[in-house]
Amino acid sequence: MSVPVLTIDGPSGSGKGTVARLLAKHLGWHLLDSGALYRITALAAQRRGIDLHDAAAIAELAAHLDVRFVGEDETCVLLDGEDVSRQIRSEQAGEAASVVAAHPAVRDALFDFQRRFAAAPGLVADGRDMGTVVFPQAFVKIYLDASAEVRGERRYKQLNEKGLHANLAQIIDDIRRRDERDMQRPVAPLKAADDAHVIDSSFLTVEQVLTECLARLGK
Ligand code: C5P
Repeated sequence: MSVPVLTIDGPSGSGKGTVARLLAKHLGWHLLDSGALYRITALAAQRRGIDLHDAAAIAELAAHLDVRFVGEDETCVLLDGEDVSRQIRSEQAGEAASVVAAHPAVRDALFDFQRRFAAAPGLVADGRDMGTVVFPQAFVKIYLDASAEVRGERRYKQLNEKGLHANLAQIIDDIRRRDERDMQRPVAPLKAADDAHVIDSSFLTVEQVLTECLARLGK
């Protein structure tokens, strides 16, 4: 019997990371945070002084990454045994991830690694191309969207709560720029799979989104 996979794709700030984590916990399934892999690849490249535009060198690096997701909910990320969970969450790390993620060779290098996360009893896979490229046979596919303004406000609130100064207009601008890069790239662009259920989370609570996803799973 094949392992059930639930994919959740969508732009940054749509809430898919939170929803994926909570769903995995609720279902007792594994979690794949594919964005973290691109963030870590970029971090590893920067640490080695590799230019983020050097596709061949970064693909080679991605193919041999020593990455592990540990902890009860598999959200603690180790690179070469070092906990980099916080470091990869910055805006700059997201930008750098989006640059390396645009190289087809880097995506190829991470493909098999991502596929191996599908293990019993099931997998919740969060990303941009989970339903379209990595797990096209997924049991259920969700595309979680929200307007750039709502996503910007969420990010702005998060940063304020952490005591970090932020400019809302700038954040919304950055979000639009990253969306544009992720949607326009020729390989594995951000888009809903034809058979995905599209949920707009702009005016929904996390609980409402969870309920909707569980209903799609028949739970
Ligand atoms: O989801 P997260 O914000 O962590 O992703 C960071 C970046 O990694 C995205 O902006 C996107 O460019 C890239 N990414 C991707 N494919 C995925 C997951 C993330 O290209 N499956």
